[in-house]
Amino acid sequence: MCGIIGYVGTSPAKPIILEGLKRMEYRGYDSAGIAVFENGKISSEKKAGKLQVLTDEVSEDHWSGTAGIGHIRWATHGIPNDVNAHPHTDCTGKIYLIHNGIIENFHELRERLTAEGHEFTTQTDTEVLTHLIESHLPGNSLSEAVKASLKEVIGTYGLAVVSEMDPDTIVAARLGSPLILGIIGDGEYMIASDATAILPHTREVIYLDEGEVVTVNRKGFTITTVDNTTVEKNSSKIEWDIQQAEKQGYDHFMLKEIMEIPRVIEDGLRGRLIIEDGIAHFGGFLEYEDKWRSIERIVIVACGGAAIASRVGEYMLEEYASIPVKVEIGSEFRYRKPVLDEHTAVVIVSQSGETADTIASLREAKRQGVFTFGIVNVVGSTIAREVDAGMYIHAGPEVAVASTKVMSGMVAMFSLLTLAIGRQRGMSLVTGKRIAKELQNVSLLAEKMLKKNTETIKSLAKKYATYDNAFFLGRKYNMPSAFEGALKFKEIAYVHAEGYPSGELKHGPLALLDDRFFVCAITPKDSVYEKNLSNIQEVRARKGVVLALATEGDTGIEQYVDDVIYMPKTLEMLTPILSMIVVQLLAYYTAVERKCDIDQPRNLAKSVTVE
Ligand code: M6R
Repeated sequence: MCGIIGYVGTSPAKPIILEGLKRMEYRGYDSAGIAVFENGKISSEKKAGKLQVLTDEVSEDHWSGTAGIGHIRWATHGIPNDVNAHPHTDCTGKIYLIHNGIIENFHELRERLTAEGHEFTTQTDTEVLTHLIESHLPGNSLSEAVKASLKEVIGTYGLAVVSEMDPDTIVAARLGSPLILGIIGDGEYMIASDATAILPHTREVIYLDEGEVVTVNRKGFTITTVDNTTVEKNSSKIEWDIQQAEKQGYDHFMLKEIMEIPRVIEDGLRGRLIIEDGIAHFGGFLEYEDKWRSIERIVIVACGGAAIASRVGEYMLEEYASIPVKVEIGSEFRYRKPVLDEHTAVVIVSQSGETADTIASLREAKRQGVFTFGIVNVVGSTIAREVDAGMYIHAGPEVAVASTKVMSGMVAMFSLLTLAIGRQRGMSLVTGKRIAKELQNVSLLAEKMLKKNTETIKSLAKKYATYDNAFFLGRKYNMPSAFEGALKFKEIAYVHAEGYPSGELKHGPLALLDDRFFVCAITPKDSVYEKNLSNIQEVRARKGVVLALATEGDTGIEQYVDDVIYMPKTLEMLTPILSMIVVQLLAYYTAVERKCDIDQPRNLAKSVTVE
């Protein structure tokens, strides 16, 4: 949530900052702002609305400064308007600051600073930081004033500050919100909350850790803690390719990312499966084999789409690895009193690796001393660095706010984990080989399905986009796909949709059914096929309109439903990989029909880095 960026070097800062903001726009799009040094003075502009509004506003500004900062906002405190947009400034107008996170004690600080004579102009929590820094600046460098201020703050931040007192210098800090330093070359650096903003300029980065502050100008950079202890850090290389973060001719990132799913599954499995031995092998498992052997229970913690993908993992692990599994939502887990012990593994699942509630849950698990394992996409993210062990999804950057390819990647990772743990706990070689073989094949099935069915899904979306409400039904492995269909219809198509286990509809929700509803019934030929058919009949008996997702060859289902989308046959535990793709594509084309802002749905942001 919110994207922050800073550049210092020899090239004009404005275009570099605006381009970086464009790449991070999925982090928030309520308002945007920029501040650039111009001969020792700071020029700044900020505008409510999407980044384009700011870009148009500053297009005539011939700023030639080669150091500056920029921000895109997802509002928490204060409505999205020009005034509340970042950067914020102090009473002197010489300090400019951008912030991602929440200052929880802003109210007390604001009262105190107001009593001391500071004048506040915005409704944001962030503005207190500018006045705090102003109050610490006399006699101190900007860096010292920032560190002194941060000691008074309770909350979370990824922030960057510039001041006319320290020309062409950026001070940036993190606590609870990501921050990366990019090393472009001698005297040329960037800071950003997201690697995608830095990637066009350099692959060499340093990930700042919690409580660290970097001071950077053309002479170089220093990293310290808030208490001013110097920190030596090694740089890392970003493995992602810049093309991966671009639309490459697709109308939307979401469509591009759905089309990438076969490749994502293939990349995620590469080198991690030995089919003839029926095993999965990857670092996060091999290095901790004994630990995994001692585990008697798994608690998976995630939010949103990641929690939905985790439900597939729950079913797989219980069925094939015979280990009790529970999926918990991060925002709940962190505040209730979870009972964990040394035989529990907490599996943390996140695309971004920066979701605030998921990170807090990880830290709660670590506080209780249990083994933590991450399934994460963004390399070097907070979760990836804080878990005891883990596996990367290797999906490349996911830009659309709606998660698609990474959810498939998560399911693929759970299949590997199931195979690894299952084989350790008595899964037979025959079963192991069957799972490994089908897993290896599933990317091909997904690719074929996309080629064959995309046009059908597109035309069915035209019909179903006219409905105001939808039920998505699925049982066993496809219950999560029902949740996913409903989530995506809400998230990007703004359709009221509810996902239910198929058998649950008659326990209440069926009362809602009328001619404004359609029912999407996920009904592959699996162990619960007949049960699902009965549920379809119950809907039909009440004149419900039914769109079924069925297995290729199951033409018999056509007599019971209005429309069918066919999916290739695969192992039951892998069917959700295919059904998730179908409901995502259906939601995508429905959103196209309804003319929604698909990659940047209203009120949302991609990485939820605040509670
Ligand atoms: O980065 P994470 O995987 O931790 O994000 C979790 C959710 O915020 C995310 O999956 C969200 O629900 C998506 N927008 C769903 O499409």
